[in-house]
Amino acid sequence: MLRLWRTGLCVLLMLLSIGMAAVQAGPAAITIEFRDHHKLVRSLQLDEFAMIAPMRILEIYEAHEKRTRAYKVYPARVVFDQIFGKCWRTAEEIVFISKDGYQPSIPVEKFLTFDAYLAFASADGSPFTLDNLLQNEEMVDLGPLYLVWDNLQSPTLRQEGAADMPYQLIAIELSTFAARFPRLVPPADASPAAKQGFLRFRKHCLACHTINGEGGGKAPELNYPVSVTEYIRPEYLRRWLDEPASIRYNTTMPALAAETPQREQVITEIITYLETMRTQKGIQNTLDTNRGAHGCKHSNQ
Ligand code: HEC
Repeated sequence: MLRLWRTGLCVLLMLLSIGMAAVQAGPAAITIEFRDHHKLVRSLQLDEFAMIAPMRILEIYEAHEKRTRAYKVYPARVVFDQIFGKCWRTAEEIVFISKDGYQPSIPVEKFLTFDAYLAFASADGSPFTLDNLLQNEEMVDLGPLYLVWDNLQSPTLRQEGAADMPYQLIAIELSTFAARFPRLVPPADASPAAKQGFLRFRKHCLACHTINGEGGGKAPELNYPVSVTEYIRPEYLRRWLDEPASIRYNTTMPALAAETPQREQVITEIITYLETMRTQKGIQNTLDTNRGAHGCKHSNQ
């Protein structure tokens, strides 16, 4: 009996130690996928980044926590050059895919104009997490990778808040906007305000929400089968974008960034876009959003 008990304990201890080893091996074993229009170009383990790009410490304005904070980072342009070859610079969009469904699509232009970095740890060795004050979430994991910008000296980047700062990145994909989101674009005869609103929506809302099934997967669909403009009264929709917490207690939707220039007008244009899309409902059943896509030539493979 005693022996049986001992064997049991032994097995338990063994299982425990295997479990611990798996936890310890965790961070290094995580892989990040790099894709070109859905096609896998390369997958890289976190500890392999050091072989293709120089590590440095970067201090940024941490928009999620509204304070200055330092991270260990790799320069994004160097990583992209190494993985995709220089041709990524002629692509249109880079899509960042997070574990939690957040999926911003950022124009390549922005990476050529400003300095972006892939952060993988806190500089001071503290946990690689943050309190996302904007979304009422505490102790959010940032790993494996977190996209940050050298924003301390740039008023333009500071104004954008946390819009282009996705965390928990597991894949990075080159794309074109039309290939990725054919059902989001307003019709050719839409008003200039609706077209402008589409660009605003894309910048401020699309990473979380879908329209006709296209966009980020972190928040509800806004157009199909019933548009939010059909069931939310206009004055409440406005107020929702301005200050969601004034309508729904403890909501995780962030208000449109307070620093947004011409904020009132931006809200009006976004609502105009949403109203326009009310007549453009439709959902695509296949995963083939990749029609007409052309890839980057990967000479370095
Ligand atoms: C960081 C992610 C995020 C961003 C960015 C975001 N939202 Fe949301 N949104 C949410 C979440 C999460 C909910 C659900 C919240 C809840 O029910 O409390 C939501 C809810 C909504 C709703 C209510 C839907 C319903 O039927 O209840 C509307 C309308 C909306 N968002 C519009 C927008 C617009 C327009 C923008 C851009 C200005 C935007 N959101 C930006 C996360 C986001």
